[in-house]
Amino acid sequence: MRISVIGCGYLGAVHAAVLAHLGHDVVGIDVDPEKVAVLASGHTTFFEPGLAELLAAGTQSGRLRFSTDPAELAGAVVHFVCVGTPQRADSGLADLAAVDAAVAALLPRLASGDLVVGKSTVPVGTAASVLGRLRAAGSTARVVWNPEFLREGHAVGDTLRPDRLVYGVADEGSDDGAADVALLDEVYADLLRRGVPRVVTDLPTAELAKVAANSFLATKISFANAMAEVCEAAGGDAVALARTMAYDPRIGAQYLGVGLGFGGGCLPKDIRAFAATADELGVGRSVAFLHEVDEINDRCQDRAVELVGRAAGGLRGARVAVLGAAFKPESDDVRSSPALDLAVRIADEGADVVVTDPQALLRAQLVAPQLRYAVDAVEALTGADVVVLATEWQEYRSLDPAAVAAVVRRRCVVDTRNVWDLQQWQAAGFQAAALGRSAVRPGAGAARDAASEGGLAAPGG
Ligand code: UGA
Repeated sequence: MRISVIGCGYLGAVHAAVLAHLGHDVVGIDVDPEKVAVLASGHTTFFEPGLAELLAAGTQSGRLRFSTDPAELAGAVVHFVCVGTPQRADSGLADLAAVDAAVAALLPRLASGDLVVGKSTVPVGTAASVLGRLRAAGSTARVVWNPEFLREGHAVGDTLRPDRLVYGVADEGSDDGAADVALLDEVYADLLRRGVPRVVTDLPTAELAKVAANSFLATKISFANAMAEVCEAAGGDAVALARTMAYDPRIGAQYLGVGLGFGGGCLPKDIRAFAATADELGVGRSVAFLHEVDEINDRCQDRAVELVGRAAGGLRGARVAVLGAAFKPESDDVRSSPALDLAVRIADEGADVVVTDPQALLRAQLVAPQLRYAVDAVEALTGADVVVLATEWQEYRSLDPAAVAAVVRRRCVVDTRNVWDLQQWQAAGFQAAALGRSAVRPGAGAARDAASEGGLAAPGG
C-alpha cells in the first residue's frame, strides 16, 4: 500500500521505517531539509537501537523515501500524521501548529477515499476539528486516530510488536467506519496476524487513550517517589517498599522505579497538556492530581541536589562526576532530562561538574553549554570527589567499584536511579547514598529478586 508519513522525528522516522519493513511503499515528509537528507541516505538523525538497519534496508529496497516536498503526498492512500506537539511557551497546553501545518499540506492533495491517520499526541477534540477542516474544504477523506505507545530506546520493537493497536473512528458502526477499520487493518495486517490486540473506539476515546496511559505511568512513578520522600523521613527504604508492592500482580513491578523521576519529550508535557485540556473542558478537578504528580517529580531534583550536597560535604568547589545526560538509557534525547537538569543545578550551586554520556553528549552540549563534558566515564571519574549516577546506562550500572576507586579523589557515590548494589560500593570503601533509602541495609541491593527483574531495577523500561 502507498503510505505517507508526515513528520519524521522520533515517532515518524520509526513508523515510516517499520511500515516499509512490513512491505508498504512509504514516503516520509518533513519540513527540515537536513533531516530529510540524512534519512534519505538511509541514516538516523538520532540514536535509536535497530533503526539504522531498518532505514538502510528500506531506502535500499526503494520502498522507503523521504522528501520535503508535500507534492509527494499525492498518490498515497493512507497518511499518518506524526508531527510533534510540544508544550506551548505560554501555558501547559499542547502547541498544535505542526498538526495544523500537516493538515494544510494534505488538504489540496487528498483524494476521495484517502485516510488521514493521526498518531501525534493531541488534546481530545483535535481529531474532530481536523475532520471539520477537511469537510469545510470540501474533502471527503476520512480521519482515524491511532495513538502510538512506543518508548524511545525500544521504538522499533514497540512498533513491530505493540501491546495494543487503538483505532478511533469517526462513525463507529457505520459502513464508513467499517471501511476505515478495514483499511487500517490492511496497513497492520502482519501485526494483527501475530495476534496484537486491537481496540476500535470513537475519536475522543482514542485521543484520550494516549494521554490517559502516559498520565497513569507518570502517576505510578511519582507514587513511588512520594513513598521515597516518606521513607527518607521515616527511616525506611523506598526500593524495598516498592518491591513489596511489586509482587502484587494488581500493582505490578514496572514504573515503580524510585529515583530522579520522569523526563523526556512525552510524560512531562503530556500530563501538563492533559491537565490544561481538562480545565478547558470544565473537568480540571478530575485530573487535579496531575499537578501533584508533576510537583512530586520536580521535588526529586531538589532531593537529589540536597543528597549530592550532603555527600560532598557542600557543593561549592566539589568536583562532581555526573554519569548520564540522556533522559533515560538507550536514547540520546535530553529533552526535560532529569540527569542534565540535575547536573545544571549542581553546577549552579558552585560544584565543578563533569558530565558524560555514551550517546547524548552532543545534544547535552547544545542545551547546557556551560557544563564541562567528558568523552567517557574514566575521564569524568578521574579526580572526582563525588560520583553521581544520573542515567542508568548499562555501562554505568556495571561499573567496577575497585576500578572507580583507582581514579577518583574521594570514594563517594550517589545513585539517583537505584540500580547499584550499594553494599558492593561500601565494601570497596565508598561512602554510598541513594534517593529514597535512609540507610542501606544488607539485602537491600539492586536487582536481587523477581520483582526487580520485572522492572524495578530498570526504571528506563
Ligand atoms: C513514554 C511512554 O512510556 C510511551 O508509552 C509513550 O508512547 C511515549 O512516552 C510517548 O508519549 O511518545 P518515553 O518517553 O520514551 O515513553 O519513556 P519511558 O520509558 O516511559 O520513560 C519516561 C521517563 O520515566 C524516563 O525519564 C525514565 O527514566 C522515567 N522512569 C521510568 C522512572 O523514573 N521510573 C520508572 O520506574 C520508569
